Amino acid sequence: MELLDGKKTANAIKEEIKAQVTAMQSRGDRVPHLAAVLVGNDGASLTYVGSKVRSCEYVGFESTLIQLDETTTETQLLTQIDQLNADASIDGYIVQLPLPKHIDEEKILLAIDPKKDVDGFHPANFGRMALELEAFIPATPFGIMQLLERYAVPTSGKHCVVVGRSHIVGRPISILMSQKGPAGNATVTVAHSRTENLAELTRQADIVVMALGIPEYLTADMVKEGAAIIDVGITRVADSNHPKGYVIRGDVAFDEVAKKASYITPVPGGVGPMTIAMLLQNTLLARKWNS
Ligand code: GUN
Repeated sequence: MELLDGKKTANAIKEEIKAQVTAMQSRGDRVPHLAAVLVGNDGASLTYVGSKVRSCEYVGFESTLIQLDETTTETQLLTQIDQLNADASIDGYIVQLPLPKHIDEEKILLAIDPKKDVDGFHPANFGRMALELEAFIPATPFGIMQLLERYAVPTSGKHCVVVGRSHIVGRPISILMSQKGPAGNATVTVAHSRTENLAELTRQADIVVMALGIPEYLTADMVKEGAAIIDVGITRVADSNHPKGYVIRGDVAFDEVAKKASYITPVPGGVGPMTIAMLLQNTLLARKWNS
């Protein structure tokens, strides 16, 4: 079994990006600038956005954190988005999700200029990705593709079962893995909450991508000997023995599944760190594409 070490791979990607930023600086070019908009005080969102900003500093990007009150109206947020779209000094930006319930998420995502949409959530980017045109690919599926490619996990002609059909992970990874190219050419099945006999399907899979959000759902009896396992789950599970009061659990019962797997991502330290590295990669691409 080989561990797909997302932390190590993300660090390698960050070093590659940092070297490119250093080269830009020595040419006298402006460095990439990422902005993040956070509405409200959701604990997990604050942690994620904080990591994104720190990672920007590490690779030499400029970063701007725009923190708005929980009571911000949809109109006020749209005004903020218009300003970011018009600001030539910002190469790309993200609006951290989830948004408070009184704000229509779809309306907000549609207002983001697709050329600055480094999350790749705008329909223009999703459509371009599906059609294999130059596009911002959402960071989590982009990170999974990088892990598969960099560890040379066989995908061509293999059966991949993706469990979960979210717009951010399940759907895009199912499209990417079926496309031509590195980490592609797989035969992909998308399973979800209505799928009957899920275990029968996952037992046929050479690769399982778990993006369900149910802790330790995938057990050893559900996987084939030698399968590659990608765990996208990051659920906070209450644990009074831990100083933070919770532990992070993936969608895979790691210890028992690892014994049967050829490759497996740990949680934490698997797909999670890759997501931030690929957001930085998209911001670097935004700087290049829009200049
Ligand atoms: N919330 C959880 N994941 C993400 C992400 O990748 N981007 C944004 N904007 N919000 C998120």
